[in-house]
Amino acid sequence: MTIILHVHDWDELDWLKNLSGLMPDRNFLSYSQIENDIQADYAILWKPPAQLFEQIDGLKAIFSLGAGVDHIVNVAGFPKDVPLVRVVDKDLTNRMSEYVVFHCLRYLRQYSLLKQQQTNKIWHKGYQPSANEVRVGVLGLGELGLDAAQKLRVMGFNVLGWSRSEKSIDGVKCFHGPDGLDTMLAQTDILVSLLPLTPQTDGLLDYELFAKLPTNGALGGPYLINVGRGQSQREAGILKALDDGTLAGATLDVFEVEPLPTTSKLWTHPNVTITPHNGADSSPRAICQNIADQIARFEAGLLLENVVSIDRGY
Ligand code: NDP
Ligand code: OXD
Repeated sequence: MTIILHVHDWDELDWLKNLSGLMPDRNFLSYSQIENDIQADYAILWKPPAQLFEQIDGLKAIFSLGAGVDHIVNVAGFPKDVPLVRVVDKDLTNRMSEYVVFHCLRYLRQYSLLKQQQTNKIWHKGYQPSANEVRVGVLGLGELGLDAAQKLRVMGFNVLGWSRSEKSIDGVKCFHGPDGLDTMLAQTDILVSLLPLTPQTDGLLDYELFAKLPTNGALGGPYLINVGRGQSQREAGILKALDDGTLAGATLDVFEVEPLPTTSKLWTHPNVTITPHNGADSSPRAICQNIADQIARFEAGLLLENVVSIDRGY
């Protein structure tokens, strides 16, 4: 029973130790050790390289080490008939909501301005809006967007949300589809993106969209927080919007190219906060247990959970 592991960016050994501790009877192989074509039952992957699927045959299921699956479904030769399981995990969800709530509160409490005042030894109390004067529009109301929206509600924000299908969520003004998007944007002071990358969301966060956000809200201008996927944004459009006041600021965890090239103007823009795609890290302990449980279920003839819809792309 062979399981192939490929982990880009993160410490593969840590994942291997956790997985083999939970499934000691399995033969784990790091993809980096494979020279020829190989038969394997499962593949556990984070950002697999281009040729991986050409070398592996016989897969019964593929596991993504992240909630997003664009890093797998967009690889040439991805076998569409093999079930692809993604991460849905409380630990990851909590981390993401921490990120979203933290950065919304940072904008609400005018942290940059106060820090600047401190630097210049200025004691000045300006107008401090309350959370319910600020409208946060969340793009994507899935596992992560829903939890973030609910926690933003607890903090008192006025929360709106957008999804592909129609939803009704207590305390959240819900919109869906292309028409719903424009209606939501017209009432959004902080736009949070928790969208997966699909052909429909590719390049969505561009200047034209930012121009639909109101500039007369309680924060004095709209803010963008993108913690979904970098290819959903156009960084040239973000910079243009920041420079002409269409956006007051942006917090970006994900980028068109990662790591963000040192030549990017985003690094030094005064109104941009950059984080290194650590909005919600995958915890090996929690996620390996989940994969072991899923394999056990699958081999007992039960249905795999959190299987991605290949047609939808997420
Ligand atoms: P889900 O699949 O649970 O939710 C996706 C949401 O996006 C759903 O509400 C879906 O609508 C909505 N959506 C998808 N396509 C469209 C569209 N074309 N128009 C409107 N709404 C759309 O995903 P998760 O919440 O678990 O994760 C979201 C993304 O967050 C991941 O795909 C990944 O890219 C990113 N992520 C980033 C991390 C980081 O550290 N920066 C960590 C983890 C995830 P509907 O409900 O109708 O299907
Ligand atoms: C994920 C990520 O998809 O970390 O889980 O980006």
